[in-house]
Amino acid sequence: MNRRLGVLISGRGSNLQALADAIREGRLQAAIAVVVSNRADAKGLERARHAGIDALCIDHRGFTSREEHDRAVVHELQARGVGLVCLAGYMRLVGGPLLDAFPNAILNIHPSLLPAFPGVDAQRQAIEHGAKVSGVTVHLVTAELDGGPIVLQRTVPVLDGDTPETLSARILAEEHRAYPEAVQVILEGGWRVDGRRFVRSVSAASA
Ligand code: GRF
Repeated sequence: MNRRLGVLISGRGSNLQALADAIREGRLQAAIAVVVSNRADAKGLERARHAGIDALCIDHRGFTSREEHDRAVVHELQARGVGLVCLAGYMRLVGGPLLDAFPNAILNIHPSLLPAFPGVDAQRQAIEHGAKVSGVTVHLVTAELDGGPIVLQRTVPVLDGDTPETLSARILAEEHRAYPEAVQVILEGGWRVDGRRFVRSVSAASA
């Protein structure tokens, strides 16, 4: 698979940083071709530029529809030969143009064990529900919000004294390990999507 990544962000960009660190340290054989933010004030844009990565803002407020904004994002990704798109705190629904341009080639990371607690504030949802275990999910992106085939999950305990902030911090540390691993799994190939399921061939899974 084409190992050129396009990372889409809206804010802090700590998962973007984790991907960049994993590449630098040789844990992930890939290159970040471009970082695109829909917000000009995203801290992640600074991180990208600091790491010498091409980074640009495509502000969604300059477009009349989601499709039009998506098409502009697709244009920039394709112009740089991106093969895999990684959503990393991208606070936008992904629409048809992106899904069509990158079939089964868009990943997202979500701070819960999906299908529990999709959408925003997943850590607060887990605490308020009284869950004893939450975690991290990396999944392929489909038109269903936080609903695509699950590539990888990691569990994180929910402690009695947890606040959304303390649980988020514990989950985030796990996210930073999980995302580079999941990207590596995708890039290595030897997998297929079977209905809702992401399935690795036996040889790929034991590698
Ligand atoms: C992470 O918790 C991620 O799971 C969720 O948004 C947050 C982004 O954090 N989708 P960062 O911008 O990568 O620091």
